[in-house]
Amino acid sequence: MQKLEVFGANKLKGQIKISGSKNASLPILAATLLSRKKVYLKNLPRVRDIETMVSLLQSLGSKINFNKNNLTIDNKKQNKNFASYSLVKTMRAGILVLGPLLAKFGRAKVSLPGGCAIGTRPVDIHLDALSKLGVKYKIIQGYVHAKAPKGLIGGKIKFSKISVGATENLIIAASFAKGTTVLSNCAIEPEIKDLVNFLKSMGCNIKWISKRSVKIEGVSEVNEITYPVMFDRIEAGTYLVAAAVTEGNLKIKNIIPKIIQTEINTLKKIGAKIRVKKDEIHIVGNKKIKSINIKTAPYPGFPTDLQAQIMVLLCKANKQSLIKEDIFENRFMHVAELNRMGAKILTNGNKAKVSGNIRFEAAELMATDLRASVSLILAALTAKGKSVINRIYHLDRGYENIEKKLKKVGAKIRRVN
Ligand code: EPZ
Repeated sequence: MQKLEVFGANKLKGQIKISGSKNASLPILAATLLSRKKVYLKNLPRVRDIETMVSLLQSLGSKINFNKNNLTIDNKKQNKNFASYSLVKTMRAGILVLGPLLAKFGRAKVSLPGGCAIGTRPVDIHLDALSKLGVKYKIIQGYVHAKAPKGLIGGKIKFSKISVGATENLIIAASFAKGTTVLSNCAIEPEIKDLVNFLKSMGCNIKWISKRSVKIEGVSEVNEITYPVMFDRIEAGTYLVAAAVTEGNLKIKNIIPKIIQTEINTLKKIGAKIRVKKDEIHIVGNKKIKSINIKTAPYPGFPTDLQAQIMVLLCKANKQSLIKEDIFENRFMHVAELNRMGAKILTNGNKAKVSGNIRFEAAELMATDLRASVSLILAALTAKGKSVINRIYHLDRGYENIEKKLKKVGAKIRRVN
C-alpha cells in the first residue's frame, strides 16, 4: 500500500491552480444517463471517485472516452439498469444513478451505498422522495429494486432533512418525469447549482422559485452539449488552510471567490490576510492565529468537508476553540491521529474541544477518510521532521495531483510504495 512521507516544517509559497469539482462532476456524470446524445464534459478532476463513476457508467453500457480532464460520453446504446455493489461500495455517490435510470427505463436495481468512516450514509430521504414520483421499491439483499410502472409522475416533495445527494437524485429524476415537480427544503450547495446549470444547458426545464425550492417541468429529450464543471471549492478551502497553518503565502487560482465567502470570512477572523480578485485569492498566513468556534452546516454554512482541515489550524490558535460537527455522526476520525502528533483535542459526541498553542510533532499516521487524510498532511507540513501517512488511497479519491501541487509551492513531500 502506498504512503506519503512529509518533511516539515516549511512555509508554502507560490501559486496553486484548483482542479474541477469532484462533487459537481459526480451528479453531472450520473445525469448524462438521461441523454441519448453525446455529452462533452470539461475540467473533470482525475481522482479515483471520478474513475469509479466512469467504470459504473461503463458497466451500464455508456461509451466513454476520458482524455486528460475532458470526457466524452455517448449513451445512445446505454441499456443496462443494474449498478453493482462492487462499484457502489467504494463510492457512495453511485446511488445517484438511481434517479436517471428510473427516469429512463422505469426500473432499476442499484446497490445500497453502505457505510463509510464518517457515517452510515443512509439513502432513506432519496427513496421516500422517489416514491412521491410514483416509484415502488423493495430492498432485497443490499440492493434497491425500484420500479415506476407508469413512468415517473411529477409531484410536490418537501425533503424531511437537507440532503445534497437526495436533492441531486430528485432534480435529475424529475427532469424526465411527466408533468411538474416542486422540490422544497433542498440543499443549495454550489455543486447542485452546477448540476442544474448543466441540465438546463442540455434543455431541461428547471427554475429556482425560492432559496431552497425548485420547480421542474419534465422533458422527454435533450440536446448534445459541451459543459465545463465548476472548480472544487473544498480543494480551494484546503489550500487556503494550508497557507494559514504554515504561515505561508499562496495565490489560489481558477476559482470564484464569492462561492467560498464563508471560508474566506472564517480565515480572516482567524487572522489570515486575504486579498480577493476575480478568479483568485491571495492569502498570507499570520503568526498569530486567533481561536474561533465553528459549527458545520449545509451551504452557505461552514462546510463539513473542511472541518478536519480547520481543526488543524485551530490547534495552533492562541486559545481553545470549539467545533460542532452537525452534518455527519462520526466525522472526528482524524482526532486520534492529530492527538498522536501532540494535539490536545477532546471529543464528546459531535463536539470537539480543540486546545490551542500546539506544536505538532512528526509521527507515523493512518488516514481514515478523504478529508481526514488531508488534515494529517496539513499538520505534518508544520511538524519538524518526517511524518509518514499510511492508507493514502483515501486521499486519492478526491485530491488531484496533491503532491505535485504542494511540491510546487515548497512542500517536501513524496509518495512511497
Ligand atoms: C455530499 O454527500 C458530499 N458528497 C459529501 O462530501 C458532503 O460531506 C455532504 O454532501 C454534505 O455536504 C458528494 O457530493 C459526492 P447528504 P451526501 O445527503 O450527499 C444524512 C467529500 O468529502 N442523510 O447531504 O451523502 C447523512 O447521513 C464527501 O467529498 C440521511 O439521513 O450528504 C448525513 O448525516 C464526504 N438520509 C446528512 O444527511 C439520506 O437519505 C447529510 O448528508 C441522505 C442523507
